[in-house]
Formats: sequence, C-alpha cells, structure tokens
Amino acid sequence: MIELTWSDEYSVGVDEIDDQHKMLFELVNRLFLAAVKREDQQLTVEVLKSLVDYTKTHFGLEERLLEESGYAGLAGHREDHLRFIDKVDGIAQRFHVEDRSVTFELINFLRNWLQNHIRQSDMEYAAHLARTGFATDAWASGARTEVGAQGIHMRPWWKFWGEAGTAAG
Ligand SMILES: [Fe+2]
Repeated sequence: MIELTWSDEYSVGVDEIDDQHKMLFELVNRLFLAAVKREDQQLTVEVLKSLVDYTKTHFGLEERLLEESGYAGLAGHREDHLRFIDKVDGIAQRFHVEDRSVTFELINFLRNWLQNHIRQSDMEYAAHLARTGFATDAWASGARTEVGAQGIHMRPWWKFWGEAGTAAG
C-alpha cells in the first residue's frame, strides 16, 4: 500500500500551509482507499471533487503568502497551480458525467504531482521566506484565524471517512 506520509522534508516552515498539505495527503490517501475498495463511483467522485475544492482554497492562500512576502517566482508558481487545477477539474467533471470511477492512474498522478510540487516548487519559496526573514509565524496565525472563520477546516468531506470505516469493519 503506497500511502502519502507527511514528514519534515515537506515542511515549508509555515504551520498553516503545512497543515493544508497534510490535509491534501489525507484526501489523496482517502481516494486511494476508495479505489482499492471499489467504493461506490459517485462517492469516489465526490471525494475527488472535495479534493479539487480544497486544493483551490489552499492554492489561493499559498499564492497570497507568496505575494505578501514579495516572492519573485509568484507568476510561475501560480501557472503550475492553474495547470494542475485545470487538469484535475476536467477529469473530475468527466468522471462525474460519465459515471466512471476514479482510476489508479489518476491517483498516481495526484500523488506524484503533490510530492514533486511540494519538494521542488514549494521548497523554493520556503527558501525565499527563510532568506528574507519573513514573519511566517505571525502570517500563519493570521491565516489560521481567517480560514477558521470561513469554516475551511470543517472538513465537509468528513462523512467519507465514516463510510470507509464501515466498509473496513
Ligand atoms: Fe504550491
């Protein structure tokens, strides 16, 4: 079983961003579980859509961090995000319309993209934050309050875990 496991090598040095990356790992792992167990197709597509929604929110926050910290690579980074969202959004829509289940090929793509993106692109801005002495803790606590107020951590997809638990039991 190939699960995404978060470790310090993925840390960008900003708590709120790290937490969101952990959540993305969880969602990809959840999707993998759904595929392994051949769960209901509509359900797996719902998990995929939750992943896309959460990713969009996360990218928005991350891009704001890059903007506020004066990161020169912001435009290129934003391009990477857009390309990824375009691709995964398109796949999710198609699966939804065609009532197709999520494939291992897609999960592998998500897994690899996430790992590579954090290890390479995100680490580049992490180095910039460290180099410039950006106040990451203050920024993270401000961001945490804000996303908390928006209910982003309420995990609307939480119900999917319950169903997986039932299937496993
Ligand atoms: Fe990123």
